[in-house]
Amino acid sequence: MRSLLRKARGFIANKTYSLKGIVKGHHLMTYRGVPCIKCPFDYVIYQMILDEVRPDLIIEIGTNCGGSALYLADMLENIGRGEIHTIDIDDRAYELAKKNKRIKFFHEGWEGYDLENAKGFEKILVIEDGSHEFESCLGAMRKFGHLVSDGSYMIVEDGIVDALGQSGMFGGGPVKAIKNFMKNNTAFQIDHRWINMFGKNATFNTLGYLKKLTP
Ligand SMILES: C[S@@+](CC[C@H](N)C(=O)[O-])C[C@H]1O[C@@H](n2cnc3c(N)ncnc32)[C@H](O)[C@@H]1O
Repeated sequence: MRSLLRKARGFIANKTYSLKGIVKGHHLMTYRGVPCIKCPFDYVIYQMILDEVRPDLIIEIGTNCGGSALYLADMLENIGRGEIHTIDIDDRAYELAKKNKRIKFFHEGWEGYDLENAKGFEKILVIEDGSHEFESCLGAMRKFGHLVSDGSYMIVEDGIVDALGQSGMFGGGPVKAIKNFMKNNTAFQIDHRWINMFGKNATFNTLGYLKKLTP
């Protein structure tokens, strides 16, 4: 038994993971065969949040191939309610996602999404996973932030570009947008419970889990 424990400890001590490796891997991720570009830690966090919040509408900015929308749709299927409005400027979603009854596709960008589409829902959760450009990210947060229901979340993806030294390519990127948004906003709180769940900042959504407070 002792030698087994010693072996296990040695195994763990010798393991090294690099952020670069995780970034590379996350680009290879698929869900039911459809590319879905998210950090695995965040996928696990998503399903926990969905189970807690039980939204009847998820607005996702940034569809890409539809893998994340499909994952969210299956989560909602398990919960037994809800739909997804997934928004892009392109139309490259895979058929499997397109066929899913819980997903509605919008192709006019977040700028063109008519907020009337979100009327009549009880519990709304918003995911900002678009261009990651500072201005666009902040604009989307301002447009959709007020739709988020009390106790629910606005999740802003990929602030990790800071740690990768790439935020300059995105005009400052999502973290700058989040800090800007939070400056004038008392309705949301950054929820460190998710951000630090797997270790300090072990998420690609740096500062990106924004919980809408109950007044
Ligand atoms: C990182 S990908 C989305 C990944 C997807 N959510 C996933 O997890 O698999 C970003 C997407 O945002 C889209 N995009 C860029 N500008 C946008 C805008 N103004 N409104 C909505 N989507 C936009 C891009 O076309 C691209 O498909």
